This record gives sequence, C-alpha cells and structure tokens, in this order.
Amino acid sequence: MKNPSPRVAPLGKTIVAVIGLSLLLGGCNKAPEAPGDPAKIAAGAEPEMLASTDPLMLQARELFKPIPINAPVLAGNPATPGKVALGAMLFFDPRLSATHSISCASCHSIGLGGADNSPTSVGFHGKRGGRNSPTVFNAAYNFVQFWDGRAQDLEQQAGGPMVNPVEMASLTGHVAEQLSALPQYRTAFAKVFPNEANPVLIGNAQKVIAVFEATLTTPNAPFDRYLRGDATAINNNQKAGLKLFIDKGCASCHAGVNIGGAMYAKFGAVAAPATQYRPTGDVGRAAVTGDPADTYVFKVPTLRNIALTAPYFHTGSEQDLLKVINVMASAQLGQTLTPLETTRIAAFLDTLTGDHPDVAQPRLPVSDARSPLPED
Ligand code: HEC
Ligand code: HEC
Repeated sequence: MKNPSPRVAPLGKTIVAVIGLSLLLGGCNKAPEAPGDPAKIAAGAEPEMLASTDPLMLQARELFKPIPINAPVLAGNPATPGKVALGAMLFFDPRLSATHSISCASCHSIGLGGADNSPTSVGFHGKRGGRNSPTVFNAAYNFVQFWDGRAQDLEQQAGGPMVNPVEMASLTGHVAEQLSALPQYRTAFAKVFPNEANPVLIGNAQKVIAVFEATLTTPNAPFDRYLRGDATAINNNQKAGLKLFIDKGCASCHAGVNIGGAMYAKFGAVAAPATQYRPTGDVGRAAVTGDPADTYVFKVPTLRNIALTAPYFHTGSEQDLLKVINVMASAQLGQTLTPLETTRIAAFLDTLTGDHPDVAQPRLPVSDARSPLPED
C-alpha cells in the first residue's frame, strides 16, 4: 500500500527488531545492551489532525480514530528494543510447541494479514480448533482478547496457545525448559529482565510476545489519512460507503480506533443468522461468564484490514465479504441492503487496509545436543 504520509516513528519497527536482534545474538565482545528507551518506541510525534469543515469528516472523527503511527504502550509492560526483538523471536519459534512444528506465526502469518486465511487453523497433530484465527494486527487496541473476551490483554492471551491441546500443545513446563536449554535465549532473557534471578519463565515469554505484538499495527490506511484531514484519501464511492456505514448503524458497534474491538454484542442482535454462521455448539461469551444472557455474545471484531482476512465470522464460515455485510445488516440491524449499498459499504471497508508492519523473519538460536527433542 503506497501512500505519501511519512512514518514519523523515531525507530522504524523493523529497525527496532533488527538492532535488538543483533544485540541479543551478537558475540560477547559487543557492548551490553543499553536498557531500551520506551520513549523511542512509542513517543514520536503523531501527524496532526488538519482543521476541517466537511460534515462527513467531522462526523467520522466523532466515531473513529486513526491508528497511531507509534506502537501503543502496554500497561505495566513497557517496551524496550530488547523485548521487541526477543518477542519477535518467540513469536516465530516453533519450538514453543510440543512437536516443534507450530509457532504463533503459523496461524497469525505476518504476510497474510496477521491471520491464516483458513476457516479454522491447523494445530497440534493436524487438529483444528473450533474458531477462526483473528488477526494479530492492531490486536493491542482490542479491549479484550479472543472472540469471547476470555483474556484481558495480549500478555494474558499469549499464555493460552502455547499450552492449548489443539494449538501448540506444550506441557506447562516445556516452554521454559526448551528456552532455558538454549544459551542465547538464556542470555536474552537475562538482558531483558536484568533484576530477576531466574528470568526464563513462561510469564516473561508472554510479556515479550505482547510487546512485540503491540508493534504489529497498520497505520496510514486511506481512511486514517481521511480522518486526519486529507479529503482526497478516499474516493466518492468510499465516502458514500462510509456514510451508509454510519447511517445504517454499523458504527454503533464497529467504532473507535479499531472500527470494532471495543465492546461485546450478540451475533443475532435482531434476528438469528443462519446456523452455518452461528452454530448452536458455540455460545460465545456465555461459556465464559455462565450467564445465559451472554448466549451468542462475541467481541465485536475489528474491521481494520478486513479485506485481507477472509474467511469471516468466529466460525470462518463465509468467504465473501459482500455476503458478510448482508448478514450483518439483517442479523444485527434488521435491514436489507440494496446491491449498490452493499458494494459501497465494501468499498469503504477497503479503505481500512493500512501499511503492513515490516517484520523480518528473525534468526533463532539453533538447538544443540542438550536441547529437548520434540514429541512425536
Ligand atoms: C493453531 C493455531 C494458532 C496458534 C499456533 C496460535 N493462535 Fe492465536 N489464535 C488462534 C485462534 C483460532 C484464535 C481465536 C480463538 C478464540 O477466540 O477462541 C486466536 C486468538 C489470538 C489472539 C486474539 C486476537 C483477538 O482479536 O481476539 C491473539 C492476540 C493471538 N491469538 C496471538 C497468538 C500468539 C501470541 C500465539 C503464540 C504464542 C498464537 N496466537 C498461537 C489460532 C492460533
Ligand atoms: C449490534 C452490533 C453490530 C452491528 C450493528 C454490526 N455488527 Fe458487524 N459484527 C458484530 C459482531 C458481534 C460480529 C462477530 C460475529 C461472529 O460471531 O462471527 C461482527 C462481525 C462483522 C464482520 C466480520 C468480521 C470478521 O473478522 O470476521 C464484518 C465484516 C462486519 N461485522 C461488518 C458489519 C457491517 C458492514 C455492519 C453494518 C451493516 C455491521 N457489521 C453491523 C457486531 C455488529
């Protein structure tokens, strides 16, 4: 995606990862890594919002916010270049799984919109889980994680898949054991958590993975440039789609910086969708809270980069975005859209595709004679 807005981040995301990585993997003769300055990762000036008198732009600014250029700061888990680099390594390391074959990136591919373009993902021994893999891009801006919100934040979320029996299926001790066996990981954890006697812990792995994920944002979408005041960043058809998205009521649920990700709603708020989209076996949030009123309640998903992340819904049961828009109109709003309205809304959704994060496949420490072997 080409666009003219400059990236103002003082350290480009790749650069952060690459510098941190070379510090972590570098020989002992290198200077020890300076404690990273979080300010360098997340406090560069953001582009200004230009003054506007355009009523549609002003209305859009009330409902939505642009994705900041800089990575968000996670509460209680400040970013450092070393954390970002180590988190990237763990995100790509298949040895966090029991069979040493599945990494976070298997189901959240950086090149596939942060997801996997499959209805449900293949995990341990080819088993498939019950839900579609959501994108990790901009996940830091979701108010809770998972379709049913069962994790409070990225740090808590990252603990789930490593030990989930149909995902990476590691036994609880395996991750720390695996990482401790590799001297470069031991050194990297010690540098990133200098005050801890025994820093190679799954909890610390979760922390650095979360910090890395927070850098996976996609700023500068045409819609963001429009929100900031560039009236030409989206075309008239897309503006008509934006107006419909607001006027029909989509924005009553899909709003804020992530155009979603900020509240729960029942899938079928007005009318039940077809069972292929909402099978009875998955009651969503009710399984977490035990409250029957939460039956079929899910986190309203982000629509950022939605054009890249088919198939859709928590079931991954619809490949066609136009059909998804029609299901939403009927199930969530009790309305029927004309074909022109549907394509206009889709044209608006296309403006939500931002710049991909520049992430280089990190070099990982290789296993040696003392490393634990994979399970069969
Ligand atoms: C086998 C595939 C698979 C693997 C491996 C995997 N995930 Fe996921 N991920 C999923 C699925 C499926 C969901 C949704 C599950 C749900 O909501 O119940 C999910 C949800 C998430 C979410 C929540 C996003 C949101 O919008 O709610 C994040 C963040 C995430 N994964 C990050 C990770 C990280 C970090 C790792 C590695 C430690 C990882 N995943 C490994 C498939 C996978
Ligand atoms: C009452 C709240 C609500 C309204 C109104 C609403 N949605 Fe949704 N939307 C949701 C929820 C909840 C889901 C997740 C459904 C599921 O469980 O798969 C969703 C899912 C989606 C998805 C699929 C996302 C993905 O990653 O799979 C798209 C696209 C979408 N909505 C677009 C729209 C459009 C366009 C409108 C207006 C016509 C709209 N929504 C109106 C709550 C809402």
